[in-house]
Amino acid sequence: MQNPTPEYLLDLSQRAVLLSNRDHLLNKHCAELKTDHTDVFAKARVYSETINELRSHGMMQYGIPIESRPGPTVKMEFFGEKRELIMFASNDYLNLSTDPRIHEAVEKTLKEYGIGAGSSRVGTGYSYMHKALEEKIAHSFGKEAAIVLPTGYDAIASPIITLCTAKDRVIIDASSHACIVDGAYSSGATVRFFAHNDVERLNETLEKAKGRMDGGGMLVAVEGAYSMDGDIAKLPEIVKVCRAHGARLIIDEAHSIGVHGKKGHGVAEYFGLSKEVDLIGGTFSKSLGATGGFIAADKDVITYMNYLSRKIIFSAAFPPILATAVSKAMDIMESDSELRERLWNNIKYLAKGMKQIGANVLGTETASVPILIGNDSIMFSFTQDLIRNGIFTFPAVYPTVPKNKSTFRLALQSKHQKKDLDHTIEVFDKLLRKYNVQKINHS
Ligand SMILES: Cc1ncc(COP(=O)(O)O)c(C=O)c1O
Repeated sequence: MQNPTPEYLLDLSQRAVLLSNRDHLLNKHCAELKTDHTDVFAKARVYSETINELRSHGMMQYGIPIESRPGPTVKMEFFGEKRELIMFASNDYLNLSTDPRIHEAVEKTLKEYGIGAGSSRVGTGYSYMHKALEEKIAHSFGKEAAIVLPTGYDAIASPIITLCTAKDRVIIDASSHACIVDGAYSSGATVRFFAHNDVERLNETLEKAKGRMDGGGMLVAVEGAYSMDGDIAKLPEIVKVCRAHGARLIIDEAHSIGVHGKKGHGVAEYFGLSKEVDLIGGTFSKSLGATGGFIAADKDVITYMNYLSRKIIFSAAFPPILATAVSKAMDIMESDSELRERLWNNIKYLAKGMKQIGANVLGTETASVPILIGNDSIMFSFTQDLIRNGIFTFPAVYPTVPKNKSTFRLALQSKHQKKDLDHTIEVFDKLLRKYNVQKINHS
């Protein structure tokens, strides 16, 4: 194969950005190619052609397996050789997925109980381990009751779908994760967005909605920590506004568990507002090092979820072996504050270093340091250069972020080493110059 020209690679990189949006794939790319959609597979063939083209030029890191234990550095094969890479794309913030204390606890459950739940909760999917974990979560998160679900996505989407109907309105922070958005649309409710963390706009949206309601209710949905923006929810003001308008509030603590709050229970705990937030949900797949999620609320709401959530009734339950893992991980998270201190030292160190080289650090309140690049077309090449320099992270491009707000989200772990963070800062300094990314004077 001839060496590709820089223009060709740039065009390919731009196409890759656009094709991450299915609407663009269908309405523009397939339309230009006059794709015949009478076969529902046709779009997939068009899509995979571009992906294969990207792969053949080493421009697609998605789909490359990790060949070592997870951790602050991992082994992966790129450009024909195995490389050790500093990992910034993991949400295992406290490194609990590899904690031997948890492995020991899980071994006992494995021998006594096995792995899978065997059915949904209606059958064999509700064990004494589920019951114990749910009681522990309810207590820790300051609620009457809790219920666990197989994924964090389900744990947030499912209560929205189950509680809201076509008469209701779901009002969402514009930076919210897909599980909130998908849950809201799937419920059939009217969906409205307010500008990220803009409490005035939330107030206006609720005010406007009130005059248009026809007997339904309002649910406001926010995240505790926004890892792409680097900030946390303005919860005291949000709670006040929700109260004033009689709206219920759900918080997704996915990125704040293990990171915020005295014992790591998230942003509601951090602000002392666990009682005031109506529904507190989160995932076990980030700081707690496992998979699955929970929603905690009043007893009545949890009972209603237990009987009416389609995800709970018609899908296999959260595996009991993970109930043991999560329970032990919560004990460690609550008692071993050193893990959180080390994580915060790393967050502050990387953010400070990145600011010193003039990188556009969007926020410093979360476990990931988001660096705005703002030019979609260079993101894939920039990523390849990071990999060549031993750094692994994902390019966040439209539609994950708004157009031309492309960002590298560098997620920190407790076990990241200072020397690796220094190296990362040095490489970013070099590449920001190479790609003419505007530097910011933070002083
Ligand atoms: C804010 C937020 N909520 C929910 C989820 C879904 O969690 P899980 O991956 O455990 O299903 C994610 C995952 O990235 C997330 O970032």
